[in-house]
Amino acid sequence: MDFLELVRATRTCRIFRQDEGLPEGSLTWLVECARLAPCAGNAQALRFALASSPAACRAVFPALKWAALYKDWDGPAEGERPTGYIVIVGERGKRTNLNGIDAGIAAQTIQLAAQTRDIGSCILLSFNHETVAQALDIPDTMEPLLVIALGMQREVRVADTATDPANLGYWRDDKGVHHVPKLPLKTLILSNK
Ligand SMILES: Cc1cc2nc3c(=O)[nH]c(=O)nc-3n(C[C@H](O)[C@H](O)[C@H](O)COP(=O)(O)O)c2cc1C
Repeated sequence: MDFLELVRATRTCRIFRQDEGLPEGSLTWLVECARLAPCAGNAQALRFALASSPAACRAVFPALKWAALYKDWDGPAEGERPTGYIVIVGERGKRTNLNGIDAGIAAQTIQLAAQTRDIGSCILLSFNHETVAQALDIPDTMEPLLVIALGMQREVRVADTATDPANLGYWRDDKGVHHVPKLPLKTLILSNK
C-alpha cells in the first residue's frame, strides 16, 4: 500500500471484532516495530506492558475514557471491545517531556504497523493510571504514559477535508461511519520558500 494511503486508513478505531481476537504474537511484533523507532538521544527509556489475555483485557478496559466528543456513547460494548493493549511506560518523574515525545512516536509507529495487518487501534491519554498500573503489574517507580487499545477493526472510519477550522470535531453519520475532519494542506503549510 502507498504510504499516504496507509496513513489515511490509520484512523483511530474504537469498535472491534472482539470475537476474532488478535493473531498470536501481534503485540510483541508491534513492540518490535516500536523498538526500532527514533527516540531522543537514542536513550530508549520507554518500556511496554502488554495485555492480551481476556482477564487482563477485562482488567484494563474499565480504566479507559473513550471519545470525549461522543457524549452519549460510553465506549465499545461487550462484543466490540479491544482484545489487546500496549501500555507505554516511563520512569516516574524522569525525562518527562522527552518521554512524552518518544511515547507519541512509538504510539504512531505501533498504529501504522497495526493497520498494515487490519488491526485497528486507539491511543488513549485519558485513563485511570492506578487501575492500569495494577492490572499490568507496573511498578510504583514507573508510570503509564499512553495506552494503545487494539483489535481487529470493525468501525468504518474516514478522513474528510475540514471546511471550517473552528469545527474539527469527529462525528458519526446515520450509517455509523466515523468521520474525522482534517485541515487541508494549504492551511497547514505556513511558508514554502
Ligand atoms: C495523544 C493522544 C491522546 C488521545 N487520547 C484519547 C483518549 O483518551 N480517548 C480516545 O477515545 N481517543 C483518544 N485519542 C484519539 C483522538 O481522539 C484521535 O486521534 C483524534 O480524534 C483524531 O482522529 P484520528 O486518530 O482518526 O486522526 C488520542 C489521540 C492522541 C494522539
